[in-house]
Amino acid sequence: MHNEGSKVIDETRQGEAVMMDGVKSSNGKKLFLESYGCAMNFADSEVVASILTGEGFTTTKDVNEADVVFINTCSIRDNAEQRVRARLHDFKKAKKSKPGLIVGILGCMAERIKSQLLEEEKLIDIVAGPDSYRDLPHLIEQVEGGQKAVNVLLSREETYADISPVRLDSNGVTAFVSIMRGCDNMCAFCVVPFTRGRERSRDPKSIAEEAHELFENGYREVTLLGQNVDSYLWWGGGQKKDLPIDIVHKALNHELPDDEQAKFTTFADLMEMVAQINPELRIRFSTSNPRDITDAVLHVMAKYDNLCKYIHLPVQAGNSGMLERMNRGYTRDQYMQKIEAIRRILPGCAVSTDIICGFCGETEEEHNDTLSLMEWSEFNYAYMYKYSERPGTAAAKKMPDDITEEVKSRRLTQVVEMQQKLSKAHTLTGLNKVHKVLIEGTSKKSKEMLYGRNGENAVVVFPKENYKPGEYVNVLATSCTVATLIGNVVNN
Ligand code: SAH
Ligand code: F3S
Repeated sequence: MHNEGSKVIDETRQGEAVMMDGVKSSNGKKLFLESYGCAMNFADSEVVASILTGEGFTTTKDVNEADVVFINTCSIRDNAEQRVRARLHDFKKAKKSKPGLIVGILGCMAERIKSQLLEEEKLIDIVAGPDSYRDLPHLIEQVEGGQKAVNVLLSREETYADISPVRLDSNGVTAFVSIMRGCDNMCAFCVVPFTRGRERSRDPKSIAEEAHELFENGYREVTLLGQNVDSYLWWGGGQKKDLPIDIVHKALNHELPDDEQAKFTTFADLMEMVAQINPELRIRFSTSNPRDITDAVLHVMAKYDNLCKYIHLPVQAGNSGMLERMNRGYTRDQYMQKIEAIRRILPGCAVSTDIICGFCGETEEEHNDTLSLMEWSEFNYAYMYKYSERPGTAAAKKMPDDITEEVKSRRLTQVVEMQQKLSKAHTLTGLNKVHKVLIEGTSKKSKEMLYGRNGENAVVVFPKENYKPGEYVNVLATSCTVATLIGNVVNN
C-alpha cells in the first residue's frame, strides 16, 4: 500500500513488494531479488531468477547473505519510484558491511532513467532494462571486473519465450504466464510504452507448453499477462509488425476468409488453446483494453467453463472529452457498449476497472461523469489512482498538470467511496449461493480457515477441515465483509 490515501488502492496489484527465494544452485553466489509494480514485473523476476540460477546462483531472502541484489522496479507513478529510492537506503547499509555487494536496478525505472541512475544513486552497479535480462550474467561479470554496467536496449523481438521461469514465492496453485511484451497504445499519461517498448507477441506454442507444464506440476490457475492482451497476434512464424496494417486489423477482428484467418492466432484463439489443456486448469487474463476487446473473446469465454468470468477493463475516466485528451481511443458510449456486450454474452461476468483522478484539466463535470459511469457499469472492483505526471509522456509535454493535490485527493476519495458501495453490493449478491472455489492457501486471519477465489475473482473463506490448496470445493456463502465471502463447504 502507498500514500495515495486509500485502503482500496494497491500500488502493486499484488500488495506489498515480495522477497523471493527457493531455487537450487552451484556457484556459491547468492541473489536477493525484490519486485515492485505490476504482475508483469513479478513474472519478469521469475525469468531473471531462471537466467541466474542457470548460471549457478541460489536465491536468498536475507539481503545480508547476498552477493547480488536486484530490484525490479516500477515507474508508473512517481511514488512507485520514490519507494524504490527509499529502499536503496537500506541496501547502502548492506553494502557498507560487504563492499563487494553488487546492486542492480532492473525494469522500468532502469529503462526510464538509464545511466543517469548511476550518478544519482552511487551504490548502484548495474542498470538493466526489461529487454536485457539475458545479458545479466555478462553485466555481473563486467562489475566483477571493476566497472559499472548498463544495458537499456529495447528490443522489437525479445519475448523470453524459451526461458522456463523459476516460480518464486509461489503458492503452487496459481501462476503468471507472459503472452506478450510492450505496448503500442501511447495513452497520454502512460510511461509504459517508453519503459517496455514496442508490443510483441510470444509464440502461442511456447505459451501452451508453459501452461501445460504448470498443470502437470500441480498448478490449477494461470493468468495470461500482457499490457493489452486483445492485441495479441501471432502469424506463422512472426510478429504483426511485419504485416500490412489492414490485414492485421482484419485478423485481430476475425474478419479474414477462413483459410487466411487460420494462419493467425488471436487472443481468442490462444485462450481456446489454453482452455483445452485441461478443464481443471482455470485461466484468467489481464489486461483487456476497451478499444481492442472483441466479441470473439467474449464468445470463447462463454464456451469454456474454465475460462474465468472476470474481465479487467480499465476505463480511466467517464467523459468522452477527457478520454480523448488521454488518447484512449474510445468514447464513454463505446465503453458502455463493451460493457453491454459483456452483460449480453457473459451474464454474471465480473468486471473491474482502473480510474485516474485529476488528469490534466479535469473539470468537476468530467469527474462527475466518472462517478456516474462507475455506477452505471456496476464494477466489481477498481484500482484507483491520483494522476501522476510522468516525464516524456504526451501529457507531460503538452498538458499542464493543473489539478491541485487537494482536489485530486478529494476526487479520489469520492471515487473510492463509490467503488466501496458497488463492491459491497456485489458481495451481498454472492450470499446464500454456492461458489466453486479454487483453494489457494491458509487465510491470513485464521489458521483454521482456508481461502480461495471463485471464477469471478471474489475471495471466499471457509473452515479448513481436510481440504488442501489446489483443490476445488463448493462453498455456500453465509456471511461476508465488504469484499470477502465467508461460508462452508457443501456437497463436494
Ligand atoms: N495496460 C496496463 C496498464 C498499465 S498501468 C495493464 O496491464 O494494466 C496500470 C494503471 O495505472 C493504468 O490503467 C492507469 O489507471 C494507471 N496509470 C498509468 N499511468 C498513470 C499515471 N501517470 N498516473 C496515475 N495513474 C496511472
Ligand atoms: Fe499504458 Fe495505455 Fe498501454 S495505459 S500500458 S499505454 S494501453
